[in-house]
Amino acid sequence: MLNYFKIFSRTCGFKPHQNSLAQCFRALSSSSSKYSQGAPVTPVPEITEKYPHLKTHKDIYDFSLENPSEFWGEIAKSYLQWMEPFHTVSNCDLPNGKISWFEGGKLNASVNCVDRHMRSIPDQTALIWERDEPGTEQRITYRQLYDQVGRLASALLQHGVRRGDRVAIYMPTSPAAAVAMLACARIGAVHSVVFAGFSAQALASRVLDAGAETIITSDQAVRGGKVIELKRIVDDAVRECPSVKRVFVATRTGAEVPRSGIDIPMEEAMEAAPAECEPAAMDAEDFLYMLYTSGSTGKPKGLVHSVAGYLLYCMFTQKQVFDLRPGDVFGCVADIGWITGHSHVVYGPLATGGTAIMFESTPVYPDPGRYWEMVQRLRPTHFYGAPTALRLLLKHGDSWVTKYDRSSLRVLGCVGEPLNHEAWQWYNDVVGDKRCSVIDTWWQTETGGVCLAPRPSAEGAEIRPGMPMRPMYGIEPVLLDEKNNEISGEDVMGALCLKRPWPGMARTIYGSHQRYVETYLKPMPGYYFTGDGAHRHPGGYYQITGRMDDVINVTGHRLGTAEVEDVMDEYEPVAETAVVGFPHELKGEGLYAFIIMKNDVTVTDQEVKDTLKGLIRNNIAGYAVPDHMLIVPGLPKTRSGKIMRRILRKIAANQPDDLGDISTLQDPSIVEQIVQLHRQQVQ
Ligand code: WTA
Repeated sequence: MLNYFKIFSRTCGFKPHQNSLAQCFRALSSSSSKYSQGAPVTPVPEITEKYPHLKTHKDIYDFSLENPSEFWGEIAKSYLQWMEPFHTVSNCDLPNGKISWFEGGKLNASVNCVDRHMRSIPDQTALIWERDEPGTEQRITYRQLYDQVGRLASALLQHGVRRGDRVAIYMPTSPAAAVAMLACARIGAVHSVVFAGFSAQALASRVLDAGAETIITSDQAVRGGKVIELKRIVDDAVRECPSVKRVFVATRTGAEVPRSGIDIPMEEAMEAAPAECEPAAMDAEDFLYMLYTSGSTGKPKGLVHSVAGYLLYCMFTQKQVFDLRPGDVFGCVADIGWITGHSHVVYGPLATGGTAIMFESTPVYPDPGRYWEMVQRLRPTHFYGAPTALRLLLKHGDSWVTKYDRSSLRVLGCVGEPLNHEAWQWYNDVVGDKRCSVIDTWWQTETGGVCLAPRPSAEGAEIRPGMPMRPMYGIEPVLLDEKNNEISGEDVMGALCLKRPWPGMARTIYGSHQRYVETYLKPMPGYYFTGDGAHRHPGGYYQITGRMDDVINVTGHRLGTAEVEDVMDEYEPVAETAVVGFPHELKGEGLYAFIIMKNDVTVTDQEVKDTLKGLIRNNIAGYAVPDHMLIVPGLPKTRSGKIMRRILRKIAANQPDDLGDISTLQDPSIVEQIVQLHRQQVQ
């Protein structure tokens, strides 16, 4: 385990700023004396007032595991507005895939996200639409949101959409998209947001799988100054989907776009419909939405989330993980096409009565200062983004950040992949001026909300770089070995599993409950298997080592590709790396590193490789030194910014003719360039 000790000593080499959050809390909390030393950063009064013997974060965490019905029951009563109360908090049989929370309860998600705030804070901004062109933002209040959701919900009903129907939403990140999601929720239709960067073919396969009769789209989308012909793409998809009966078309640019007989102009339909629409009384376990995500098999899975459990977990994590307070402006730059956009652009911020930014653009439009110029202009308290974007921006230099005022920021979050040390430090030091909490959140489309994050925690508890650290209330992470035995102790690695059901977990894969059970519940019976590996450090802190399929076994040593990448990313001239395994005659598996250099680097390729080998040898071990290192101009990334490692693995294994579908990549042409370099330098 020597290598992991070394990594550990690296991770605790410097202390981030532990006191800022605690100080903020003390300043803002009206009852700060109640939460003395050791109390939670964000209080949980729903629990501590009823159970006054629970005083510390640890007390509350332990209680959430030992008494899940009491814990989640109290939170659910307090957080959600119910039409009818639930009678049973939890009725789950995890091994057999029966997950059921809050049985007997009836509620409506749109009422929880809109109506109750329309009554209490009608003029508060609900959504700030940060449109592609900087400085053209638009604000929409809870009163306006209520009006629009009601009108679209009425229009959906008038045009024949019914409770339980699936509705595909293919729109840019915009209030119109949020209105579409909430209007579906209002009438009990199940929305399926498809990322508006996907091709017609990808859209069609999702529409068909869901059996959707309705699509809601926009005339066009605008992103990074480029126009995307959304309606045209929808028309192409519809040709392959005989089930589609109607296409609502919202106006984004107002351009002339092709029309077809099943089109319904969305704004006209809304104007003709009443603003009041009776919300459907949904059962707690009814489907709120489905969202497709990639699986190892290549066929996307439509993960289904429930009305009550999802909404509750999403709200609770929004508040606890991000220490949300009245008046906060939550700046999550995710696209609504991904789970982060669902939970932290739409449902989480709105259900908690917050103000959310909806970011339509890209991190580098019109220049690499875009995020921070937006921060100066809109003054968010939170910024929540992706490590891949941070690494990209880091490459462009600090002045793009420092020239803008970022003093409104209090919490900096990230999600989606490991936040390597260099990026963590840059985020903390440069973006956050060393005074914000950096919150690395680990979760999945399947988990509905954050499961591991540095917060909530005891007041003033340390935050360590490069790891999400602590479990959320009600979440019990465990590590399993190859024989499915729980690994105890600290400084150990294994398959990350969650030991008990939680309200936010996906309930099924649409149309294939068996696949759900086989993917997540059968591999390690009795546990939810995340597909990720993790390292439990001293202190019980979790670090994600990468997908289990990215864990490599070199000469009998298990090695997370993310760990090797982390070491290489710390070398100044390197912008980004991806490491994959390939079959190796002697070692079992060998390591292949793809490396992108920063612009204007003066060192030679050979110097870079030699330095990296030394660093890896010193930081991990000799066996972790890659067999091949290839300096490349870019990496094959999906439109959400994830590296498609399957392609790199094929190239590393000398099978570049068998790359499968690469059409969903941001830039498919990069693949050919990498293959050429591989042929010239490695093969
Ligand atoms: C990875 C995104 C390391 C992980 C909300 C997970 C992370 C997958 C982190 C889910 C993190 C997410 N550190 N890895 N903080 N967060 N991942 O479904 O492999 O798009 O299983 O959900 O992203 O991706 P998904």
